[in-house]
Amino acid sequence: MDKHMNVHFKNPAVLYIVLLGLLIINSSLLSGADPTDGFTNVPLTEDNIAIQRPYNVPLDERYSFEDGIRKLWVYADDKSHSPGSGTQPRTEVRIHGHDYTSGVWQFEGYGFVPNGTTGATITQIHGAEHDSSTIILRIYDGDIRYYSGQVIATGMYDRWFRVNLIHDVDGGTVTVYIDGEQKFQTQDRGRAQFYFKCGVYAALRDISYYMESRWRDIKIYRK
Ligand SMILES: *[C@@H]1O[C@H](CO)[C@@H](O)[C@H](O)[C@H]1NC(C)=O
Repeated sequence: MDKHMNVHFKNPAVLYIVLLGLLIINSSLLSGADPTDGFTNVPLTEDNIAIQRPYNVPLDERYSFEDGIRKLWVYADDKSHSPGSGTQPRTEVRIHGHDYTSGVWQFEGYGFVPNGTTGATITQIHGAEHDSSTIILRIYDGDIRYYSGQVIATGMYDRWFRVNLIHDVDGGTVTVYIDGEQKFQTQDRGRAQFYFKCGVYAALRDISYYMESRWRDIKIYRK
Protein backbone atom coordinates (compact mmCIF):
# COMPACT_ATOMS: atom_id res chain seq x y z
CA MET A 1 0.00 0.00 0.00
CA ASP A 2 2.74 2.49 1.05
CA LYS A 3 4.82 1.60 -1.92
CA HIS A 4 1.87 2.06 -4.22
CA MET A 5 1.07 5.57 -2.85
CA ASN A 6 4.71 6.62 -3.04
CA VAL A 7 4.84 5.75 -6.67
CA HIS A 8 1.84 7.93 -7.40
CA PHE A 9 2.71 10.97 -5.31
CA LYS A 10 6.23 11.06 -6.68
CA ASN A 11 4.63 11.97 -9.95
CA PRO A 12 3.87 15.75 -9.57
CA ALA A 13 1.08 15.64 -12.15
CA VAL A 14 -0.89 13.12 -10.05
CA LEU A 15 -0.35 15.24 -6.93
CA TYR A 16 -1.61 18.40 -8.67
CA ILE A 17 -4.69 16.62 -9.92
CA VAL A 18 -5.45 15.32 -6.42
CA LEU A 19 -4.97 18.80 -4.90
CA LEU A 20 -7.11 20.43 -7.60
CA GLY A 21 -9.83 17.88 -6.90
CA LEU A 22 -9.78 18.66 -3.18
CA LEU A 23 -9.92 22.40 -3.94
CA ILE A 24 -12.99 21.99 -6.17
CA ILE A 25 -14.80 19.83 -3.61
CA ASN A 26 -13.97 22.30 -0.85
CA SER A 27 -15.10 25.43 -2.72
CA SER A 28 -18.37 23.82 -3.78
CA LEU A 29 -19.04 23.00 -0.12
CA LEU A 30 -18.24 26.58 0.91
CA SER A 31 -20.54 28.16 -1.71
CA GLY A 32 -23.31 25.68 -0.89
CA ALA A 33 -24.66 27.70 2.04
CA ASP A 34 -28.14 26.49 2.92
CA PRO A 35 -31.03 28.81 3.89
CA THR A 36 -31.48 26.78 7.07
CA ASP A 37 -27.89 27.31 8.23
CA GLY A 38 -27.87 28.74 11.75
CA PHE A 39 -31.54 27.95 12.35
CA THR A 40 -33.04 25.50 14.83
CA ASN A 41 -35.72 23.09 13.70
CA VAL A 42 -39.09 23.44 15.42
CA PRO A 43 -40.50 19.89 15.55
CA LEU A 44 -43.96 19.49 14.01
CA THR A 45 -46.58 16.82 14.60
CA GLU A 46 -49.95 16.33 12.91
CA ASP A 47 -51.40 18.55 15.66
CA ASN A 48 -49.50 21.44 14.08
CA ILE A 49 -51.09 20.84 10.67
CA ALA A 50 -54.57 22.38 10.53
CA ILE A 51 -56.42 22.10 7.22
CA GLN A 52 -58.72 24.89 6.07
CA ARG A 53 -61.16 23.90 3.33
CA PRO A 54 -64.56 24.92 1.93
CA TYR A 55 -66.79 24.58 4.98
CA ASN A 56 -69.54 22.62 3.28
CA VAL A 57 -67.52 19.69 1.90
CA PRO A 58 -65.87 16.74 3.68
CA LEU A 59 -62.10 16.97 4.14
CA ASP A 60 -61.34 14.00 1.90
CA GLU A 61 -63.01 15.75 -1.05
CA ARG A 62 -60.37 18.51 -0.99
CA TYR A 63 -57.33 16.95 0.76
CA SER A 64 -55.35 13.74 0.86
CA PHE A 65 -52.20 12.69 2.73
CA GLU A 66 -50.45 9.64 1.32
CA ASP A 67 -46.80 8.55 1.28
CA GLY A 68 -45.81 11.81 2.98
CA ILE A 69 -47.45 13.94 0.29
CA ARG A 70 -50.26 16.33 1.15
CA LYS A 71 -52.44 17.09 -1.85
CA LEU A 72 -54.77 20.08 -1.56
CA TRP A 73 -57.28 21.20 -4.18
CA VAL A 74 -60.16 23.63 -4.54
CA TYR A 75 -62.61 24.82 -7.20
CA ALA A 76 -63.24 28.42 -8.24
CA ASP A 77 -66.91 28.18 -7.22
CA ASP A 78 -66.25 26.57 -3.82
CA LYS A 79 -67.41 28.22 -0.61
CA SER A 80 -64.94 29.91 1.73
CA HIS A 81 -63.48 28.11 4.75
CA SER A 82 -66.10 29.35 7.19
CA PRO A 83 -69.71 30.46 6.75
CA GLY A 84 -69.94 34.21 6.31
CA SER A 85 -66.19 34.69 5.81
CA GLY A 86 -66.66 36.08 2.31
CA THR A 87 -63.06 35.26 1.33
CA GLN A 88 -62.04 33.36 -1.78
CA PRO A 89 -62.09 29.55 -1.73
CA ARG A 90 -59.10 27.80 -0.22
CA THR A 91 -57.74 24.46 0.86
CA GLU A 92 -54.66 25.23 2.90
CA VAL A 93 -52.37 23.85 5.56
CA ARG A 94 -52.32 26.37 8.38
CA ILE A 95 -49.34 25.81 10.67
CA HIS A 96 -50.99 25.74 14.04
CA GLY A 97 -49.40 26.28 17.45
CA HIS A 98 -46.37 28.22 16.23
CA ASP A 99 -47.77 31.70 15.62
CA TYR A 100 -45.05 34.30 16.16
CA THR A 101 -44.73 38.04 16.73
CA SER A 102 -40.94 38.49 16.90
CA GLY A 103 -37.65 36.82 16.06
CA VAL A 104 -36.58 35.14 12.83
CA TRP A 105 -38.76 32.33 11.50
CA GLN A 106 -38.46 30.09 8.49
CA PHE A 107 -40.87 27.92 6.50
CA GLU A 108 -39.54 25.09 4.37
CA GLY A 109 -41.47 22.76 2.11
CA TYR A 110 -41.30 20.92 -1.19
CA GLY A 111 -44.14 21.98 -3.46
CA PHE A 112 -45.61 20.66 -6.71
CA VAL A 113 -48.17 22.47 -8.87
CA PRO A 114 -49.75 20.73 -11.85
CA ASN A 115 -49.95 22.58 -15.15
CA GLY A 116 -53.44 24.07 -15.36
CA THR A 117 -53.56 25.55 -11.87
CA THR A 118 -53.34 29.31 -12.18
CA GLY A 119 -54.16 32.31 -9.98
CA ALA A 120 -53.68 30.38 -6.74
CA THR A 121 -51.68 31.38 -3.70
CA ILE A 122 -49.51 28.38 -2.89
CA THR A 123 -47.59 29.70 0.14
CA GLN A 124 -48.14 32.64 2.45
CA ILE A 125 -47.17 34.23 5.70
CA HIS A 126 -50.48 35.18 7.21
CA GLY A 127 -50.76 38.37 9.25
CA ALA A 128 -49.51 41.93 8.70
CA GLU A 129 -50.07 45.27 10.39
CA HIS A 130 -52.58 46.67 7.89
CA ASP A 131 -53.36 43.66 5.73
CA SER A 132 -54.08 39.98 6.05
CA SER A 133 -50.71 38.75 4.76
CA THR A 134 -47.02 39.60 4.86
CA ILE A 135 -46.16 37.73 1.69
CA ILE A 136 -48.05 35.64 -0.82
CA LEU A 137 -46.48 33.39 -3.45
CA ARG A 138 -48.95 32.95 -6.27
CA ILE A 139 -48.68 30.81 -9.37
CA TYR A 140 -49.70 32.10 -12.81
CA ASP A 141 -48.94 30.08 -15.94
CA GLY A 142 -46.02 28.32 -14.27
CA ASP A 143 -44.51 31.49 -12.81
CA ILE A 144 -44.35 32.13 -9.08
CA ARG A 145 -45.13 35.79 -8.36
CA TYR A 146 -45.05 38.07 -5.33
CA TYR A 147 -48.81 38.56 -4.98
CA SER A 148 -49.86 39.20 -8.61
CA GLY A 149 -46.75 41.26 -9.32
CA GLN A 150 -43.04 40.60 -9.59
CA VAL A 151 -42.00 37.23 -11.00
CA ILE A 152 -39.90 35.28 -8.49
CA ALA A 153 -39.38 32.02 -10.44
CA THR A 154 -40.46 30.60 -13.81
CA GLY A 155 -41.14 27.14 -15.25
CA MET A 156 -42.55 25.72 -12.01
CA TYR A 157 -45.29 23.39 -13.29
CA ASP A 158 -45.16 19.62 -12.93
CA ARG A 159 -41.98 19.38 -10.88
CA TRP A 160 -41.05 19.38 -7.22
CA PHE A 161 -39.37 22.54 -5.96
CA ARG A 162 -38.07 23.53 -2.57
CA VAL A 163 -39.41 26.71 -0.97
CA ASN A 164 -37.75 28.47 1.96
CA LEU A 165 -39.29 31.66 3.36
CA ILE A 166 -37.34 33.54 5.99
CA HIS A 167 -39.19 36.19 7.98
CA ASP A 168 -36.95 38.44 10.05
CA VAL A 169 -39.60 40.21 12.11
CA ASP A 170 -37.17 42.44 13.99
CA GLY A 171 -35.37 43.41 10.77
CA GLY A 172 -38.67 43.73 8.87
CA THR A 173 -37.67 41.59 5.88
CA VAL A 174 -38.86 38.50 4.06
CA THR A 175 -36.54 36.46 1.86
CA VAL A 176 -37.64 33.79 -0.61
CA TYR A 177 -35.46 30.88 -1.69
CA ILE A 178 -36.45 28.50 -4.47
CA ASP A 179 -34.43 25.31 -4.75
CA GLY A 180 -31.97 26.73 -2.23
CA GLU A 181 -31.27 29.90 -4.22
CA GLN A 182 -32.24 33.35 -2.98
CA LYS A 183 -34.77 34.68 -5.53
CA PHE A 184 -36.49 37.59 -3.82
CA GLN A 185 -36.36 39.84 -0.79
CA THR A 186 -38.75 42.53 0.38
CA GLN A 187 -39.73 44.60 3.39
CA ASP A 188 -42.44 42.94 5.42
CA ARG A 189 -45.77 44.73 5.98
CA GLY A 190 -45.65 45.58 9.65
CA ARG A 191 -45.99 43.70 12.90
CA ALA A 192 -48.80 41.33 13.67
CA GLN A 193 -49.34 37.77 14.78
CA PHE A 194 -47.94 35.61 11.98
CA TYR A 195 -48.24 32.02 10.78
CA PHE A 196 -47.28 30.03 7.70
CA LYS A 197 -49.65 28.45 5.20
CA CYS A 198 -49.40 26.41 2.01
CA GLY A 199 -51.91 24.85 -0.35
CA VAL A 200 -54.26 26.63 -2.74
CA TYR A 201 -56.08 29.90 -2.09
CA ALA A 202 -57.83 31.48 -5.07
CA ALA A 203 -56.94 35.01 -6.16
CA LEU A 204 -59.77 37.38 -7.03
CA ARG A 205 -59.34 37.09 -10.82
CA ASP A 206 -57.50 35.20 -13.56
CA ILE A 207 -57.93 31.88 -11.81
CA SER A 208 -58.36 28.39 -13.20
CA TYR A 209 -61.51 26.48 -12.26
CA TYR A 210 -59.43 23.71 -10.64
CA MET A 211 -56.49 24.59 -8.40
CA GLU A 212 -54.10 22.13 -6.80
CA SER A 213 -50.76 22.03 -5.04
CA ARG A 214 -48.93 19.22 -3.25
CA TRP A 215 -46.55 19.55 -0.32
CA ARG A 216 -44.09 17.31 1.44
CA ASP A 217 -41.44 17.67 4.16
CA ILE A 218 -42.98 20.82 5.62
CA LYS A 219 -40.63 22.18 8.29
CA ILE A 220 -40.42 25.22 10.50
CA TYR A 221 -37.20 26.71 11.82
CA ARG A 222 -36.37 29.63 14.04
CA LYS A 223 -33.39 31.59 15.29
C1 LIG B 1 -49.29 23.48 -19.97
O1 LIG B 1 -49.82 22.44 -20.80
C2 LIG B 1 -50.25 22.91 -22.06
C3 LIG B 1 -50.99 21.79 -22.77
O2 LIG B 1 -50.22 20.60 -22.76
C4 LIG B 1 -49.06 23.43 -22.82
O3 LIG B 1 -49.45 23.90 -24.09
C5 LIG B 1 -48.43 24.58 -22.04
O4 LIG B 1 -47.26 25.02 -22.68
C6 LIG B 1 -48.12 24.16 -20.63
N1 LIG B 1 -47.75 25.36 -19.90
C7 LIG B 1 -46.66 25.47 -19.18
C8 LIG B 1 -46.42 26.82 -18.60
O5 LIG B 1 -45.91 24.55 -18.97
